[in-house]
Amino acid sequence: MVNDVQEILLSEEKIALKIKELGKAISEEYAGKELLVVGVLKGSVIFVSDLVRNISIPCEMDFMSVSSYGVSSESSGVVRILKDLDNSIEGKDVIIAEDIIDSGITLEYLVDFLKGRNAKSIEIVTLLSKPARRKVDIDVKYVGFEVPDEFLVGYGLDYANKYRNLPFVGILKRSVYEK
Ligand code: IMP
Ligand code: MG
Repeated sequence: MVNDVQEILLSEEKIALKIKELGKAISEEYAGKELLVVGVLKGSVIFVSDLVRNISIPCEMDFMSVSSYGVSSESSGVVRILKDLDNSIEGKDVIIAEDIIDSGITLEYLVDFLKGRNAKSIEIVTLLSKPARRKVDIDVKYVGFEVPDEFLVGYGLDYANKYRNLPFVGILKRSVYEK
């Protein structure tokens, strides 16, 4: 598995430090609010589980599942909701947590989808952002790292559902997906 990685972009230590910072910022800005963190399955699971443990104020968790990529490494531009939230978000201060924002299409769709549900606020936290690839303009309140336009795996990010369990974020060798 590690042999398919060309280069480690973000080490475990670097990720952990950044998540501490994000958790601290969220804890300060959401103190006294009804915080609900919504993880986008499956990529954000590892990020969310580390993030909420660095949030020191009460916070609920819920999950949604969307599909936008199928098994290829390019976005199809088509977003489907595979699993909706379990609970109402009415009156809550919602933060949607993503692993990575690429074109922005998935999150634009998700925010629109949740907008009609009377949340008090809806914001976005993403561990990674690829600004060079953005196709739609979305407001992202918290960004962990801006990353280059490479296909990344690890720390939740997959290629064809593999590599999510790598503890770091790495660049996938082109030979793996250009077969
Ligand atoms: P967007 O809709 O183009 O912003 O795509 C967002 C989703 O695409 C993310 O939640 C990831 O699941 C996936 N994605 C985008 N770039 C990468 C990458 O480099 N590696 C793995 N998954 C990615
Ligand atoms: Mg994702």
